[in-house]
Amino acid sequence: MSMRHLYSCILTAIVAPLILTACKNSDENKSQTASDMTAKSGITRTEFGTVDGKTVYLYSLTNAKGDLVKITNYGATVTSWVSPDKNGKRTSIVLGFDSLAGYLAKPPYFGAIVGRYGNRIAKGKFKIGADTYTLALNNNGNHLHGGIKGFDKQVWEVAPENDSIPVVTLSYLSKDGEEGYPGNLKVTVTYTLTGDDGLKIEYNAETDKPTVLNVTNHSYFNLTGDHSNTILDHKVMIKSDYYTPVDSGLIPTGELKAVKGTPFDFNTPEKIGARIAQVPGGYDHNFVLNRADSSLQMGVTVTDTASGRKLEVFTTEPGVQFYTGNFLDGSIKGSNGVPFNKNTGFCLETQHFPDSPNQPKFPTTLLKPGEKFHSITMYRVSVQ
Ligand code: BGC
Repeated sequence: MSMRHLYSCILTAIVAPLILTACKNSDENKSQTASDMTAKSGITRTEFGTVDGKTVYLYSLTNAKGDLVKITNYGATVTSWVSPDKNGKRTSIVLGFDSLAGYLAKPPYFGAIVGRYGNRIAKGKFKIGADTYTLALNNNGNHLHGGIKGFDKQVWEVAPENDSIPVVTLSYLSKDGEEGYPGNLKVTVTYTLTGDDGLKIEYNAETDKPTVLNVTNHSYFNLTGDHSNTILDHKVMIKSDYYTPVDSGLIPTGELKAVKGTPFDFNTPEKIGARIAQVPGGYDHNFVLNRADSSLQMGVTVTDTASGRKLEVFTTEPGVQFYTGNFLDGSIKGSNGVPFNKNTGFCLETQHFPDSPNQPKFPTTLLKPGEKFHSITMYRVSVQ
């Protein structure tokens, strides 16, 4: 049985009983409106700097509607996503920097691919069969987002591109023992900017020893297109009846808790700020997406009335970490000098659940030799 099939069986087994019982603000193209814009779709490459003796590039993906997404192969990171607001003004809807230096200063995973295991593994320990593995500890005695030098801090390989199509494929070989993980893991991430302003992210991976894997993209969105605003007025809808409560170290207790009657119920759209004060520290929780199988489905929408922008999130993953930028404290500044303050971005990290390797009731994140890991997430932006 493939990991994905196993996941849907396990998820059904967990949830069914519960149901029964209970950047810079870019001024690029400022004078043009969305409707009079017809751009040449494709991809261009410029040098972005040097890391570990390797040249790092910035890839600019443009679609015919003029949306522009920039991606660097340092961390396979989305640095900018310029899209129009309801007045046609084009600004970036993700937090990022326009130079490599911003990323080398270790911002909290802005736009990066995180892995080998995105999110937390308690005490950095897990077992596969009789073997215990100990991972690098980088978050209050726990392992977070792949450790000290995770996928977000690696230089990824990029295959030659067809410059008339806005698609870029990045690959990385994570060696046996890296950050404590077993097995040589080859991972590829393909970003496609679609004609209807979707950023599709496709993940593929294979290993030569049993390992655990949970890769995601860690973009922080601010749909106002101006990170001097908070995201507290954005309205969020999450198709989720359960979330995974956490302890003080943000490690899941193992319980799937009903959202009904709590500040975690986003089945009806709610402003982020409406109940955030009732959630100590702010939202930083994994939501179990309502779904019967692992096909690509819409799980989350976010709207911002001021800009008219709407973000839709589609995924094949069973969960999503909704994080409201609680740890941003103004100490990091954008390329325009404006600080990234608390709640100036939100993340929707599509994923398997945190600490799954230690939670036998959660969908498995085990990947075995011979299996092909495949996962898709798409973020799509539109104006209303
Ligand atoms: C985590 C937060 C963490 C942040 C770092 C999120 O995915 O859930 O707890 O602080 O990443 O940027």
